[in-house]
Amino acid sequence: MTDLTDAISTSTVPVRTAEQPLTGRRALVTGGASGIGAAVVRALAARGAHVVVADIDTAGATALADEVGGSIWTVNLMDTDALTDDTLATALHGVDILVNNAGIQRINPIQDFNPADFHNILTLMLEAPFLLIRAALPQMYAAKFGRIINVSSVHGIRASPFKSAYVSAKHGLEGLSKVTALEGGAYGVTSNCVAPGYVRTPLVEKQITDQALVHGIPEAEVLSKIMLTESAIKRLVEPSEVGSLVAWLASDDAAMVTGSSYTMDGGWSAR
Ligand SMILES: NC(=O)c1ccc[n+]([C@@H]2O[C@H](COP(=O)([O-])OP(=O)(O)OC[C@H]3O[C@@H](n4cnc5c(N)ncnc54)[C@H](O)[C@@H]3O)[C@@H](O)[C@H]2O)c1
Repeated sequence: MTDLTDAISTSTVPVRTAEQPLTGRRALVTGGASGIGAAVVRALAARGAHVVVADIDTAGATALADEVGGSIWTVNLMDTDALTDDTLATALHGVDILVNNAGIQRINPIQDFNPADFHNILTLMLEAPFLLIRAALPQMYAAKFGRIINVSSVHGIRASPFKSAYVSAKHGLEGLSKVTALEGGAYGVTSNCVAPGYVRTPLVEKQITDQALVHGIPEAEVLSKIMLTESAIKRLVEPSEVGSLVAWLASDDAAMVTGSSYTMDGGWSAR
């Protein structure tokens, strides 16, 4: 006969607390080696989750996984031919929190926009999330728990000139997220977007030169004249602020939040 004390001490049921609400959870964050993704990795790990840092940048992913006690998946999410059912089943094994975050930016008027760039952005930022969600859902349905969190953008609900591919991909991601929410609701799986304004990351730093060129203004004026014009709060979003929102959406407290898109844009989309 099993002694009750033994049964309790050997129990593998995770103990979740207010500070560690994600204990026992396994998360996978695409584009987790840099910027918002890295902040999301840190936020989830700090709350008790084991996090898989999925990125094309092996060195960056490894350094962060070492820092948070997580693991890595080196992957080029633009190469969807390599995202076979077997590869995805292995990478996503046991994952109950999936954060689709990897993204890039290209800025050009439509008439000058390279069709290959348009295709690549749609592949990385819409088709790859679809393939990962598709692969993750069956095990989430079986476990009656899952969290799909898609890093969209204010450009998922608003447009800006010269970002045809990016705006199209993010609007598509918002739609994919809502369909996932409707299908997953009966199985304890939620799906939501987070939609930040401009965040202090390498992706934004890299586009300052391009924005200056395409708008014909000095680089020093890009922040005030382009990036922050629509915001009520005139500063960039910090990556850790997005990480904190994602971590809450991943928690049990957010069980009734699904099909939504949470803006964190300093008031941009209130207009
Ligand atoms: N920075 C912003 O202002 C902002 C605002 C709103 C939304 N977003 C979104 O947040 C997400 C992250 O952006 P960020 O600013 O942190 O960018 P970032 O450039 O700092 O990080 C992007 C990460 O994605 C990885 N990545 C790029 N291509 C990849 C590929 N083919 N396969 C696998 N990994 C790949 C990169 O290696 C990098 O680690 C993107 O989806 C972006 O659209 C960013």
